[in-house]
Amino acid sequence: MFFYSYLFYRHPEVRDMFAPAMTRQRERLLGALGEVVANVDKIDQLVPYLEDLGRDHRKFGTLSAHYPAVGEALLTTLRQFSGAAWTPKLEADWATAYSIVASTMSGAAERSAELEPPYWDAEVIDVDRRTFDIAVLRLRTEAPVPYRAGQSVAVQSMSRRPREWRFYTPASAPGETEFELHARLIPGGPVSTALVLATAVGDILRLGPPVGRMTLEPDSDVPVLMIAGGTGLAPMKAMVQELARTGERRTHLFFGARSTREVYDEHALNDLAARHRWLTVETVVSDDERWQGRQGLVGDVAIASGDWSSHDAYVCGAPAMVEATVKRLQAHGVPERRIRFDEFGES
Ligand SMILES: Cc1cc2nc3c(=O)[nH]c(=O)nc-3n(C[C@H](O)[C@H](O)[C@H](O)COP(=O)(O)OP(=O)(O)OC[C@H]3O[C@@H](n4cnc5c(N)ncnc54)[C@H](O)[C@@H]3O)c2cc1C
Ligand code: HEM
Repeated sequence: MFFYSYLFYRHPEVRDMFAPAMTRQRERLLGALGEVVANVDKIDQLVPYLEDLGRDHRKFGTLSAHYPAVGEALLTTLRQFSGAAWTPKLEADWATAYSIVASTMSGAAERSAELEPPYWDAEVIDVDRRTFDIAVLRLRTEAPVPYRAGQSVAVQSMSRRPREWRFYTPASAPGETEFELHARLIPGGPVSTALVLATAVGDILRLGPPVGRMTLEPDSDVPVLMIAGGTGLAPMKAMVQELARTGERRTHLFFGARSTREVYDEHALNDLAARHRWLTVETVVSDDERWQGRQGLVGDVAIASGDWSSHDAYVCGAPAMVEATVKRLQAHGVPERRIRFDEFGES
């Protein structure tokens, strides 16, 4: 709270970039900021993340000139709350660390400003509420958003949740001006509730630059294993459609849901499997005996269904499912370098 009060008091010009309400998201931002700066000694590992973060900050309207203001607010906050532990040496170290992080972020943002806009506005052209808590939204942009299949973009509903951004993952092959997002309602969650329950045709969604590294290996020709839970299906669907265009590789897609009701995209999956002989799709349901197909946890069922040690493996869904599945894949001989994953936890 102190951090933001100080920042907005000293630099009122940045206030409008931030969402109106103080949310837990906001508290986590300060935590993340401190964490990143404190880990500056691991800069080599941090660089790709910070470059993404810097490019991504363009969507807020953040310019290089704004970084000193946030640095000053961060250091003032640390000084305020560290008491006697805060020494001039510590302050100098934090200032150096902050300036390294800030210059990595702002450098990447400036380079990307020469190549692409800070955001894309997309019109909602269809809202298909598949269940009471899952909607498939079809969007149209003027120019294609340059995401790679499997990447995500931050989304802001301009009319319904201004300045609140959450990540969603296009479920269509890239390069087109029309594509799908799959949104699942998280109870009490502002953006997912707006997207699933309130979004209407004609709404404008603002999209940030693509982020994420769960993408197809361009040089790989080994078969592919995909394991998806819930709307974690979205990146898999984008990658399957990308494979259909760029080179067909034997692909097994396992889609997991808790109940029959949550099997929300069966028609499209069956259609893809019917059109592509190299693709096998299995739907697995964990908590519903009415389901006629395979029962169990999708990760367990997938792993028990074959020897995947020579596959590229992709895993996406809730954090607990992803963590458990990745561990089990490794235990079953899939090398770490061949496993890519994304967690649909908090944005
Ligand atoms: C890279 C990435 C890609 C994503 N892609 C998609 C996507 O394609 N489709 C999609 O539906 N979602 C996706 N998500 C999740 C999405 O970004 C939001 O986090 C989610 O929709 C909740 O937003 P909210 O504003 O409604 O709730 P928040 O304000 O973000 O959260 C409200 C409360 O719910 C909790 N919460 C948040 N997310 C979850 C969760 N997944 N499960 C249980 N509790 C949760 C929070 O801790 C908080 O207490 C993705 C997340 C990431 C990081
Ligand atoms: C070293 C510097 C910085 C770091 C490490 C950092 C880090 C982060 C992180 C991790 C998030 C959450 C993820 C996201 O929403 O994309 C975030 C959000 C945000 N950042 Fe930064 N940031 C930095 C500098 C800045 C600056 C200079 C500004 C502009 C004044 C800014 C404005 C925002 C805004 C508006 C949000 C959205 C959150 C909200 O609305 O509350 N950040 N930042």
